[in-house]
Amino acid sequence: MGRKKISIIGAGFVGATAAHWAAEKELGDVVLMDILEGIPQGKALDLFEASPIEGFDARVVGTKGYEETKDSDVVIVTSGVPRKPGMSREDLLDINKKIIESVVSQVAEKSPKAILIMVTNPLDTMTYLAYKKSGFPKERVIGMAGILDTARFRAFIALELGVSVEDIQTLLLGGHGDEMVPLPRYTTVSGIPLSQLLPKETIDRLVDRTRKGGGEIVNLLKTGSAFYAPSAGAVQMAEAILKDKKRILPCCVYLDGEYGLKDICFGVPIKLGTKGVESIIELQLTQEEKALLTKSAESVKKSIAELKL
Ligand SMILES: NC(=O)c1ccc[n+]([C@@H]2O[C@H](COP(=O)([O-])OP(=O)(O)OC[C@H]3O[C@@H](n4cnc5c(N)ncnc54)[C@H](O)[C@@H]3O)[C@@H](O)[C@H]2O)c1
Repeated sequence: MGRKKISIIGAGFVGATAAHWAAEKELGDVVLMDILEGIPQGKALDLFEASPIEGFDARVVGTKGYEETKDSDVVIVTSGVPRKPGMSREDLLDINKKIIESVVSQVAEKSPKAILIMVTNPLDTMTYLAYKKSGFPKERVIGMAGILDTARFRAFIALELGVSVEDIQTLLLGGHGDEMVPLPRYTTVSGIPLSQLLPKETIDRLVDRTRKGGGEIVNLLKTGSAFYAPSAGAVQMAEAILKDKKRILPCCVYLDGEYGLKDICFGVPIKLGTKGVESIIELQLTQEEKALLTKSAESVKKSIAELKL
């Protein structure tokens, strides 16, 4: 039994930080790939040189080509441009479409059995594109967004209540845009429904901040977008897969009738294990939640149509 192999495409902020989390957790050996000469090699070597200090045992290799990514178990795709202040995720579609088409075909050729974790924005649309271009079964192409969006909601609730982030459980549905659907009704603090701890107006304010959470970071950074929490989200998915944890996590997956939606990649709770998507969990929703979900699905469908596949 060899070590697991995690390849990360794109050695920018999200990719390099994902390499850091994955190596430190000893999920397997890590290959960091980018088209820029020297950047993936330099970051990978630097990270590997941190391993004797931090005491993690994982080989980390940087490369400009796909040979080293051969036979990966998991591939995290972060290649593509991030947004800057004033941009929506949709503004990235044309440029990132070209990048994802080229990356995914090469990844699929070198690692035909891998599970793809997509991170590049616009997330739902790029996950759809990766599903179509890879030819992989729908269980093996999964986008990361819901983990990040729920982490933001959990962080804001913890700050508001002055309690540990660890005690907050929540779920979220929908696309990774400002129309995402956080679910306060499915949110608890150590089992206590959120509605018993906070008034509706406060919950609404935190939901709104969650929806705009990506933009909040973009406006602060000015030169790019969030990367610590997004990369941690992608690595949590890789860990669930590689350790067959069967975690219930909100992820972006291809829907074929679930939630009344077809031919779309969309955020829903799934069971995530060694086979990838092991099941999709359908929640009971109120009329209001259903209406929000429909609105979010319409905007993702519009974006997918822009791909002109
Ligand atoms: N899903 C999410 O929740 C989420 C969160 C944050 C960021 N993102 C997205 O992740 C992507 C990466 O963000 P970042 O901050 O790391 O950007 P970045 O600019 O720091 O890094 C992107 C890297 O991709 C590389 N790249 C470009 N074309 C490539 C190709 N053909 N092959 C390999 N590498 C290529 C670039 O050279 C660059 O190093 C963006 O699209 C961003 O919007 C998604």
